[in-house]
Amino acid sequence: MLSGKNILIGITGGIAAYKICELIRMYKRNNANVRVICTPNALNFVTKLTLQNLSQNNVGIEEYEINDFKPEHISYADEADIMIIAPASANTISKIANGICDNLLTSTVCAFKKPIIIAPAMNCNMWENPIVQENIKKLSTLGYKILEPESGFLACGYEGNGRLCQIDKIFDETSAILLPRNEVKKKYIITAGGTIEDIDPVRYISNYSSGKMGTAIADEAFYNGNDVVLITTKDIKRPYKIIKVKSAQEMQQAIENEFENANVIIMAAAVADYRVKTKSEQKIKKTNEDTITLELIKNPDILQELCKKRTHQTIVGFCAESENLIENAKEKIQKKGCDYLIANDISRKDIGFSSDYNEVTILHKNGGIKQLEKASKQEIAKAILKEINE
Ligand code: PMT
Repeated sequence: MLSGKNILIGITGGIAAYKICELIRMYKRNNANVRVICTPNALNFVTKLTLQNLSQNNVGIEEYEINDFKPEHISYADEADIMIIAPASANTISKIANGICDNLLTSTVCAFKKPIIIAPAMNCNMWENPIVQENIKKLSTLGYKILEPESGFLACGYEGNGRLCQIDKIFDETSAILLPRNEVKKKYIITAGGTIEDIDPVRYISNYSSGKMGTAIADEAFYNGNDVVLITTKDIKRPYKIIKVKSAQEMQQAIENEFENANVIIMAAAVADYRVKTKSEQKIKKTNEDTITLELIKNPDILQELCKKRTHQTIVGFCAESENLIENAKEKIQKKGCDYLIANDISRKDIGFSSDYNEVTILHKNGGIKQLEKASKQEIAKAILKEINE
């Protein structure tokens, strides 16, 4: 995702410095070029060797280390597309807010003209100190992106606000800033995951959908610069709007609430066709009978109903088939009335449900058919969005 992007990380002296090792790995896994600058105090918490190995680059600490025609802090500032200061100590925050340049990190910040993300981490009393708060406010007003610390148990033994925010959040924020945005934003509603239909307080009917396919499409739509609402049965965190639902009826309601100003709806969720007619309020007891019968009632067909009431929206359905894939898909696209139907064979273990891979056929309402080779769900998501936007 971050291929060709140059990310500069500034680490200051704080126990959360060790978490930045994983952040560097996340950036590297996404093909970014990572450089690291540490304040001398940061090296009390992580080693230069670790950071060098993870970033696959030299780590900058003191000024005047390299005999180059360009002062080192200027080279760092010129090369990077974004700078992330994490963990940012009260000391470094206050220096930056006051234009102090007394080490390589603070001097680089002063010369940096591109986006800067600051993720503070410190003792809760330090965080609440009015001087620190004043400095944070000042930096925020000046356009620095502040990722506020979280509340919880702190390494110093206190309980309170001061813990470094989740590194996923720093990664998502970086991606949101760096990745290209569409000039014309569209609003996408995407569904993911298998719906859960309660039988009683302890049992339910569901299916093997992990939500990976729908989430990959939502990620792709978001990183292309669109407004995204992901309606999912799964617990996930993303830098776009997530609505967590459980049953088919809840999913339908959530879609209806978002539908009017949406441009594209993609139904990748595996929605239960039936739910139990009457959910038992109490746990159903075992009886002496060998069999019991659950009476099921049809769920609304969300996709079909959306297609009936659409005005301008592009509507894309998925279809999960265990046999006669194309034949059933052709019948389904007619019946549901969507613009595109993405057919996948769920009898195979290497694709479809829960797998990181898929192999799909895209059917168009006019009869066009396009077969996509087996690929990661991210690649499939890219290809689907390209197809429906052409
Ligand atoms: O989540 P993963 O583990 O990544 O797996 C991905 C997937 C296999 C679940 C996904 O690629 C997929 O095929 N999703 C659709 C599954 C499904 O419900 O297929 P269907 O053929 O039963 O339904 C056809 C379409 O109608 C689907 O878009 C479905 O969301 C929709 N539907 C179905 C029933 C219903 N009551 N309301 C609906 O809107």
